[in-house]
Amino acid sequence: MHECHREIAHWLARLEVEVRIDAAGNFRALYPATNPNSPRLLIGSHLDTVANAGSYDGILGVVLAVALLEELQGRRFPFAIEVVGFSEEEGVRFGIPFIGSRALVGRLDEDLLNTQDPQGISIRRAIEAFHLNPNEISQAKLPNDTVASIEFHIEQGPVLEQLNQPLAAVQAIVGQSRLEFAFLGRSNHAGATPMYLRQDALAGAAEWICIVERMALTVPGLVATVGKIEAKPGATNVIASEVRCSLDVRHANDEVRILAVQKLIHGAEEIASRRKLSVKENTLLSQPAVAMDPFLTSEIEKAIVRAGCKSHRMISGAGHDAMILAEKVPAAMIFLRTPRGVSHDPAETVMIEDVERAITCGLHLFDQLAASPEFLKRTTLA
Ligand code: GLV
Ligand code: MN
Ligand code: MN
Repeated sequence: MHECHREIAHWLARLEVEVRIDAAGNFRALYPATNPNSPRLLIGSHLDTVANAGSYDGILGVVLAVALLEELQGRRFPFAIEVVGFSEEEGVRFGIPFIGSRALVGRLDEDLLNTQDPQGISIRRAIEAFHLNPNEISQAKLPNDTVASIEFHIEQGPVLEQLNQPLAAVQAIVGQSRLEFAFLGRSNHAGATPMYLRQDALAGAAEWICIVERMALTVPGLVATVGKIEAKPGATNVIASEVRCSLDVRHANDEVRILAVQKLIHGAEEIASRRKLSVKENTLLSQPAVAMDPFLTSEIEKAIVRAGCKSHRMISGAGHDAMILAEKVPAAMIFLRTPRGVSHDPAETVMIEDVERAITCGLHLFDQLAASPEFLKRTTLA
């Protein structure tokens, strides 16, 4: 990540920007407005990614923001533009996503700083090991002059490709829950223990995982995933005594999502008691669905049309830093078509012509906002 920050700072070196890495490890670069004391527009996405990832989820939104500044060729607006490259959006290391953007809205608190990765290293210690000072997290907060936040991101799904449309305005982002479950049984000999005398934690977890899938198949709009599982002691000829697995549940309607999670917890308890196992669960995230700012979203649609594309609005099934920023500042997103709808996979890609259209759309959006009295009179944070 240090190298990544250095590389982006290097690209920006020719432009008159002030670069800093805030205490949450977010890359921040400020391109000044025509006049001091002007409002500030945030633009960016995240720089971290998942294991075995593609090259575009997150980083494309940061590279696009840099490209937009380059395209300006020194032209200034009545608002400053802050390019942000968020840290730790995915939640890979600590199980908790959006860590970088939480710092901007003042939610990277002591509890979260004490959260540990599987090696027992806390976020606080990880920040120190990155040569940053966790006691300065408050300096990462959104400055009061921030009036909007814009994020370009690949769609990560097949909708735009099917519609044959390069770009879309995001209208809302679905809510998501993330939990971890531990099924506990008893390890014993795989040959000598009769089937009816087993307390097999892995068989219990497997039964529950099928319930997770069945529920998501039967509730319209619900998606539910067990993407990670670990069995102990982990040997071919030993019955598993302990299984830890993840659960990710998403729906546009928060009540549907929360009810599904409750039912899945009850389902795990029912399976555990029938199989003489115990089960514990821990909720890592319950993030409500978030609507994007209506004014910015309609300006984005206009900019998409001015870039020569048809306008389209859609809901994001993936989570984004924009849903955290929306707590404090009007936030909006633009999606780029994702070939074959593949993401979180090395086959993830994007079409160069779509990136070009996205840059054109971004430039129109800047011009529209610069000409909008409604936008320029927004001067303080919510
Ligand atoms: C982020 O990629 C997510 O899990 O939605
Ligand atoms: Mn992702
Ligand atoms: Mn992403």
